[in-house]
Amino acid sequence: MKKLTLQQFNELIKDTKTIKGTPNWPKVLLTPDHLVLKLIYKRKKLFSTSFVYPYAYRFARQSKKLQAKGVVAPVVKDIYHCPEKNCHIVTYPLIDGESLDKLIMDPTPVLSEAEGVKPRDDNDKKSRDYNDKESRDNLSPLDLLIKFARFVAELHDKGIFFWDLHLGNIMITPECKFALLDITSVKIYRNPLSIKKRARNLARFIRIEKKNNNLFQDERQLEKFIANYCRIANIIEEEISILKNR
Ligand SMILES: Nc1ncnc2c1ncn2[C@@H]1O[C@H](COP(=O)(O)OP(=O)(O)OP(=O)(O)O)[C@@H](O)[C@H]1O
Ligand SMILES: [Mg+2]
Repeated sequence: MKKLTLQQFNELIKDTKTIKGTPNWPKVLLTPDHLVLKLIYKRKKLFSTSFVYPYAYRFARQSKKLQAKGVVAPVVKDIYHCPEKNCHIVTYPLIDGESLDKLIMDPTPVLSEAEGVKPRDDNDKKSRDYNDKESRDNLSPLDLLIKFARFVAELHDKGIFFWDLHLGNIMITPECKFALLDITSVKIYRNPLSIKKRARNLARFIRIEKKNNNLFQDERQLEKFIANYCRIANIIEEEISILKNR
């Protein structure tokens, strides 16, 4: 970890573009050479674990663990600490893609087509597997949501519990690969997640998306999401059906 004076800090963020935050409180910045600077401020809470083990280190550690599990996540380049700004900074290359909330919540395409995805034709639908190489731009928002449900099932099968799971924390590349952001809250278990943990993670996700993005207002969206999740996770829908009432 490199310690920065205020002057060095200002030098580092010079010429950056703010992706998230305000000029006084920048959170995510982008340098001209496409490096993301994520600023992690020290918590005020006296007994926060971040006093003992800064979240920036946890971010870097979780990134390595996720990559070992074959999950795309920011690859940390450097960690800085600026005591005068009371923050740590992790830097990582920009992931080429869009955050999923921008694509799924885009009102123009097909999500209102709540009966489901209208396949371009039958063969096309059969041949479309979520693992296939495909172009993100050919997918409707509902396609993306379904694909995302299957991805979450894969995460859970790999023992990955992502507490901060929501669409703004997921990127999707043009080749349709998902990547996780904000990974400090990721917990990785040796075995696939139990039904209880899966349900907790999904319930929180659904609650956040209902509240923040008005997603799942149409019950059929939720049904499709859960059905696709269960299909990949090999779970009977009833086991997780309590989720639908949340
Ligand atoms: N490596 C990256 N590649 C591309 N875009 C990124 C990357 N990291 C962050 N972003 C963009 O910045 C946005 C916010 O990033 P991130 O989720 O890391 O910060 P945050 O939400 O402010 O963090 P927190 O949830 O801790 O407050 C993302 O939705 C995404 O659009
Ligand atoms: Mg975030």
